[in-house]
Amino acid sequence: MQTLFKDIKGLVGCYKTSPPYLAGSDMKQFPVHENAWMTVEGKKITGFGPMSECPKCDGETVVCSGRYILPSWCDSHSHLVYADDRAGEFLDRLRGLTYEEIAAKGGGILNSARALQKLPEDVLFDMSLDRLLDVIKLGVGALEIKSGYGLTLKAERKMLRVIKRLKSVSPIPLKSTFLGCHAVPAEFDNSSDYTTHVIEDMLPEFVSEGLVDYVDVFCETGYFSLADTQRIIEAATKLGIKSKVHVNQFNILGGVELCVNGNSLSVDHLEVISDADIAALKTTLSKDRNHPTFPVALPLCSHFLGLPYTPGRQLVDAGLPLVLATDHNPGTSPSGDMTEVVRLGSLKMGLEPIEAIAAATLNGAAAMALSDSVGTLSLGKRANFILTREMSGLEEIPYRFNDVVVEKVYVNGEVWLG
Ligand code: NIG
Ligand code: FE
Repeated sequence: MQTLFKDIKGLVGCYKTSPPYLAGSDMKQFPVHENAWMTVEGKKITGFGPMSECPKCDGETVVCSGRYILPSWCDSHSHLVYADDRAGEFLDRLRGLTYEEIAAKGGGILNSARALQKLPEDVLFDMSLDRLLDVIKLGVGALEIKSGYGLTLKAERKMLRVIKRLKSVSPIPLKSTFLGCHAVPAEFDNSSDYTTHVIEDMLPEFVSEGLVDYVDVFCETGYFSLADTQRIIEAATKLGIKSKVHVNQFNILGGVELCVNGNSLSVDHLEVISDADIAALKTTLSKDRNHPTFPVALPLCSHFLGLPYTPGRQLVDAGLPLVLATDHNPGTSPSGDMTEVVRLGSLKMGLEPIEAIAAATLNGAAAMALSDSVGTLSLGKRANFILTREMSGLEEIPYRFNDVVVEKVYVNGEVWLG
């Protein structure tokens, strides 16, 4: 059956043929068709145009006066599968401990791992499915999910199996990232020995079981070194798996250049970044690479931990294809709200609303290799989109920073009632 959406105030990110991603000044050109219509048939977008040429429709008609239609958010960085929240640690932080100090006391990721190791797979699946349904309600139309709170072969497999089961029931596309090297478990003397275990015992098995779309490493002082990171990237590359890597959250170790040389799909966090890092990322826009290395900013993490914000304005001005994502996890970003991410993109990173939207939709899809099917409103793409409340302009998203933006969510062409 056909559905016609008419009198749309602005149809955002709408193309006959979508580009794979947008970089630099092109991000401001993410199209907004004013006073438009769009049709959906089955699960796909089938047409759009100006109201002056609005077709007749024999199916349902939805009048969208005063409202925008946006492509659904594409959240390319989440740790949505976890056991417990860490509200207790949050209190420690309010009393003066830093994220690093809490981790050094055995809190942080190791705390999440202890809780997850004890949990039966079915319980973990049910909790994770609830969270997935919650973020779909917030307008997420494609999502990456990482392991990394298992830290043993058994518990990492449990996490990855949960992600695979989520994929089988999810109405939106999901990608699975194996983050075995998230923290060094107490049983190991050093990061290098644990990395060897991850590379030799976990990675090949999980890949052969069809559990891994990408690998990740937390490349950071006190976690995994440059050498560990390089070994993971190389081992994954040999198995045909690309990397999406946590780098430059607290310290600049040279991880960005390493990931660029290792053809990583994305480098995520970048709260601290050097000119050399930016120059390295620029080289990945060259035509002989089949994709750039996408810089992914996670402003909810900066907000929650009081860290510097990734200099998004500077990255876009340098011509890079900036991505915005949530980092949804119990320690540094207990939220999967992409609208909030987009707001912080403008309020704290200096992005124009349309740039922040492009970073959170098309570029997010590209950072999961999903831009063929989601990320823009294009002919033949999945009809995953957001109908906003009435707004005078997209700048109201950050300007009215407490107002609800998402009025209705459509998934595969149908209103998501969740
Ligand atoms: O992306 N920094 C590494 N990993 C997560 C946080 C993990 C945690 O504290 O549970 C992040 O911020
Ligand atoms: Fe993360």
